[in-house]
Amino acid sequence: MAIIRFAQHTGTTRDVPLTEGSNLMDLARANAVPGIDGDCGGSCACGTCHVIVDAAWAARLAPANAEEERMLSMAVDRQPHSRLACQIIATAALDGLRLQVPEHQF
Ligand code: FES
Repeated sequence: MAIIRFAQHTGTTRDVPLTEGSNLMDLARANAVPGIDGDCGGSCACGTCHVIVDAAWAARLAPANAEEERMLSMAVDRQPHSRLACQIIATAALDGLRLQVPEHQF
């Protein structure tokens, strides 16, 4: 089974089944991943789906567009590989992708 791995700041992880075509915020919420609220429903308007992509995976994702960059610029704990989970669409190529959930969201 293909999975996306969400890691918490506490060190715990949760593997969620990868459903192709879904965005990663929806997958996190469907699997009750702590710290991924997705308040705007995935319209890139709240920033409550902030995740930090594992460095080994960052270059394999399409870059953030201007709207996502604008939201990320307001993130509390922005890191070099920060992304919004709602803007990443799951594909089979992302099997095993590791995402860090920041301690604090917006
Ligand atoms: S769910 Fe609101 S920006 Fe991602």
